[in-house]
Amino acid sequence: MEENATYQIETETEKNTVDTHTPTNRRTFLGWLLGLGTVTVGGFLSVPLFKFALHPLTETTTETAWSDLGNADEFASINGPKKAVITVNQTDGWRKVVQEKSVYVIKGADDKLKVISSICPHLGCSVRYNDADKKFACPCHKGVFENDGKLVSGPPPRGLDELDSRIADGKLQVRYQSFRQLVPTKEVIA
Ligand code: FES
Repeated sequence: MEENATYQIETETEKNTVDTHTPTNRRTFLGWLLGLGTVTVGGFLSVPLFKFALHPLTETTTETAWSDLGNADEFASINGPKKAVITVNQTDGWRKVVQEKSVYVIKGADDKLKVISSICPHLGCSVRYNDADKKFACPCHKGVFENDGKLVSGPPPRGLDELDSRIADGKLQVRYQSFRQLVPTKEVIA
């Protein structure tokens, strides 16, 4: 009788074990399946978001457009640097920037028109041309440049930077760029 009671208890225990664990295993499996589905769908949905966020890093800065300086004839008779202000449109990733920049139109030794930047290659101040001594001067640390942009004296590591220019449809045009400061060679940075 006692043996029977023990057997019954053991059978009940086995039953309990089976009854309790089977649904739990099923629930665990379904939970894993649901988790896997969520991760997969989330992964697919996040691809466009990542692409959007990384766009500025993967895209290179687009080239600055050519800006008009005016009719080339107007500059034909200049006998010293002539200041001009241009509007520059630049696209950097998904950021569009419109800025006004000052440049100087000069005549090279061959009488060809050239355009130079007014940004001092030392620390980026704007230089001014002085008609009296026919030199460019930087107000920040007394950098001095010849009327063709060559360095005369002061801390700037090089002369004023020449910008790409051309004559198209009778107009003098310039492509504005920014250059690295504090280095002896001209390096485009934007
Ligand atoms: S910024 Fe021009 S000399 Fe320093």
